[in-house]
Amino acid sequence: MKETFYRFDTPAKICLLADIHDRDFSEITASLKVRKPDIIAVAGDILGNVKFDIPTPIMSRTHYALDFLTACAGIAPSFFSIGNHEWMLSQKDKDIIRSTGVTLLDNAWVRHESMVIGGLTSSGAVAYEKYRSGKSEEYPRWNYFNSPQRNEPEVGWLGEFERQEGFRLLLCHHPEYYPKYLRRRKLDLILSGHAHGGQIRIFGQGLFAPGQGVFPRYTSGIHGRMVISRGLANTARFVPRLFNRREIVYIIPK
Ligand SMILES: [Fe+2]
Repeated sequence: MKETFYRFDTPAKICLLADIHDRDFSEITASLKVRKPDIIAVAGDILGNVKFDIPTPIMSRTHYALDFLTACAGIAPSFFSIGNHEWMLSQKDKDIIRSTGVTLLDNAWVRHESMVIGGLTSSGAVAYEKYRSGKSEEYPRWNYFNSPQRNEPEVGWLGEFERQEGFRLLLCHHPEYYPKYLRRRKLDLILSGHAHGGQIRIFGQGLFAPGQGVFPRYTSGIHGRMVISRGLANTARFVPRLFNRREIVYIIPK
């Protein structure tokens, strides 16, 4: 795992964690204890692959995810937004997440010191919730992949969010949402993950990312006001990581 540091015009030292996928997190907490961020932003995908008919609540049956959130909350104020791997979370699951001390930002925002911090939930999680509550007839099996072509994220609340005073920080698991939903909004910093750096990196370019296809644009680094983590898990289901180390990202005030 590598530590990546970006300088950005932000009022706080922020650690961005994404795509841990229910793996061992001891290296991460060791880094956090040394680097001492002011806040921790967990930008989705704390869970691994689970079956579509998995019974909920699932959070108390995870291997590491719950302990990971608890550990983060013990180190610094921590904020979590929902990624595509959290598509099945029930209300009980969300209560369990809150019980770790982490602030859950499920298409919602909170004020924290001079910042307002929001979390844009993965469109697949929104679609599954609609299906489960009977608002949608369609079984959203393919929503799991979350391409914005298939589902729209719930962006209505962002209007109120971007009118707030203070540094507007948005956690959004999906970097591919940026051009369509986020670039033209008054947001100061967007933190994302999901693309795993493009899984295989050749000549500084990722090879594939879900929702973006081959040679994706948004897999790593700074794009406008968005910072993308290459993620913390070793592998995706089928494709290994190559020339693409796992990373923990720190955003340091200029
Ligand atoms: Fe993801």
